[in-house]
Amino acid sequence: MIKIAPSILTADFAALGSAVEALERAGADLIHLDVMDGRFVPPITFGAQMAAALKARTALPLDAHLMVEGPERQIESFAEAGVDIITVHAEAINGPKVLRRIRELGVRAGLSVNPETPVETLFPLLGEMDMALIMSVRPGYGGQKYLPQSAERIARLKAEAARQGVELEIEVDGGINRETVAEVARAGATVVVAGSAILNATDWAQAIMGLREAAR
Ligand code: DX5
Ligand code: ZN
Repeated sequence: MIKIAPSILTADFAALGSAVEALERAGADLIHLDVMDGRFVPPITFGAQMAAALKARTALPLDAHLMVEGPERQIESFAEAGVDIITVHAEAINGPKVLRRIRELGVRAGLSVNPETPVETLFPLLGEMDMALIMSVRPGYGGQKYLPQSAERIARLKAEAARQGVELEIEVDGGINRETVAEVARAGATVVVAGSAILNATDWAQAIMGLREAAR
């Protein structure tokens, strides 16, 4: 069954703690934290201190998506904050060193590609990661439209992972809603991030259930 990772990017930033508690009650599988540094992407959101504060408010695994330059400078603090997955961007690293360091710290390692980055960039590093994250919008903002070439990129990634005999989660992030979730699930996504499709709904539990049903 597909895992649903609500992104709190669209939540009220003055009440992130209660948003995370409510998402847990609503049936989320993990909480997706969009970390932005104002450099890799224009906006600035929050960092490891916020992750630590939110960790205290939920039993759900925290999925930290680092849209930052120089992620190697931050992984220690995110590991200390108690996040379960740290995902860095292929565009921001050079080789497997950061991924290895994340794993050494006892955290699961993720690697993400922007829509304009060939998915093949991930292939030589598949054995170094626990999760691959396919961006289905350009990173930086919630509420954008799903880019339709993403499903095919997921399928290519899944086929290559099978060819290499590597087991990993495939996460997709951006523009996921009841209409788009089915095709990414069919293509092989095992974790879907959804921000506005959940947070902008009046009933978060129903929105999560709706995504699960549409993914089947
Ligand atoms: C975009 C973020 C996403 C975003 C998803 O830079 O990485 O996690 O919040 O939001 P929606 O689901 O609204 O596209
Ligand atoms: Zn994200």
